Amino acid sequence: MWLKREIRRRLGRLLTRQRRLVLAKEPPHLESRFADLDSLGLYLHVPVCRQICPYCPYSRQLFAPDLAQRYAGAVIREIDLYADLVGGRPVTSFYIGGGTPTTMLHHGLDRMLEHIFARFNMRCDIHMESHPNDLTPENLRIISSLGVRHLSIGVEALQDRHLKALHRPYTVAQVKEAVGRAVGVGFDCVNVDAIFALPDQTLSEVDELGRSFVKLGVDQVAAYPLFEFPYTRWKEIARHNGYKAFGALAKRRMLAVLESIFYDAGFRRTSVWAFTRHGVPKYCSVTVPLYLGLGAAGGTYLKDIFYLNSFDVPAYVAALDRGRLPIALSLQLSEQMQMAGWLYWRLYETRFRKNDFCRRFGRDFDEVYGRYIRALALLGLVRQNEDEVVCTDGGAYWLHWIEDLFSIDYVSRLWGICSRDPWPEGVALEV
Ligand SMILES: C[S@@+](CC[C@H](N)C(=O)[O-])C[C@H]1O[C@@H](n2cnc3c(N)ncnc32)[C@H](O)[C@@H]1O
Ligand code: SF4
Repeated sequence: MWLKREIRRRLGRLLTRQRRLVLAKEPPHLESRFADLDSLGLYLHVPVCRQICPYCPYSRQLFAPDLAQRYAGAVIREIDLYADLVGGRPVTSFYIGGGTPTTMLHHGLDRMLEHIFARFNMRCDIHMESHPNDLTPENLRIISSLGVRHLSIGVEALQDRHLKALHRPYTVAQVKEAVGRAVGVGFDCVNVDAIFALPDQTLSEVDELGRSFVKLGVDQVAAYPLFEFPYTRWKEIARHNGYKAFGALAKRRMLAVLESIFYDAGFRRTSVWAFTRHGVPKYCSVTVPLYLGLGAAGGTYLKDIFYLNSFDVPAYVAALDRGRLPIALSLQLSEQMQMAGWLYWRLYETRFRKNDFCRRFGRDFDEVYGRYIRALALLGLVRQNEDEVVCTDGGAYWLHWIEDLFSIDYVSRLWGICSRDPWPEGVALEV
């Protein structure tokens, strides 16, 4: 514990040159921020689900039809408030996440999408998350007709005992049928999300999970180890049932089992946790360089500023009813922090071009980070040449383990506060 804290403190201060990150309550000035952009990504958060899973850290609440319609109306007002700021700048990626976007399929999702396509210069298809129970043949037809070309499905596990432990409302046979139907639609990419390192999970169960996905014909698998977020109910359930958490080495062994299955099947690594079939565009959620986030708990990142909307759906709707942007907290980012953030996400993707750094910051990558990358190369965690840095399989895992020393802690604290308070009085995160 002490060692982890010390690594985090030293590395955090070295990379960000800050002692604390202060998220302020005052809304930021936005005009100049958008004026600077050539293009941007778009994120839409759908914060409703038909059930609340006990391990899930995301901002979401139970679905109710009238709330969903009021939410769609508020998102439409938020789009209108941004339309002039964004102007004709091309939107080059669009991701709908949650919560569960497919919960609103018949309750306002189409209205929000129509408005987005009417008010922004959309130059991309849609990437969207879905719940397996929503993937009936009729719903899949509607999803496809809305312009979704990249579909992600929250499968989570392929053994009934693990689905039960996670409180997922379907059986292995049902979820396999849903995935099979989605694969048959002809999307550009069908991604499945799974969780490993589940209570008492064996290596042979992980092996069966990986092989089943390959057999089902999916294009991408994102397999995350079970993260225990302190503000979820999972800790309590684990204590009650005597579940033991796996250590970092055991999780690494499980991920190695998946790596060998997916590489043998002709997949490539596209992030620490994701493997994508060769020739298929990757389904991508979190790593877009600059983006505008719409909806409750939507986060926006525009070069030197990151800001978060209120997590509370009624508060979000009420702010927009009064014609106000629903921004709850914002964080100004120094150049050092922007560069550290860039490196964080590029290591998460496990490969990057040094030239992209130069294009983004006007600085030579090797001058800024060359000595750290050389040290990582000596440890066998990355390989590099003149232009490219690529994480080894071990490097992808262990570098992300180090990144998690920061992200899990910051996200837990920030998300915990924002889930309790619609308009927090600022948040200070010690580095
Ligand atoms: C927004 S959910 C997926 C869509 C939909 N809401 C569903 O549950 O089917 C995103 C994914 O994050 C992953 N996830 C959620 N909580 C997690 C946790 N505590 N540890 C690891 N992965 C988690 C799951 O794989 C989940 O499918
Ligand atoms: S895992 Fe999916 S369905 Fe479950 S609460 Fe989280 S977002 Fe909702």
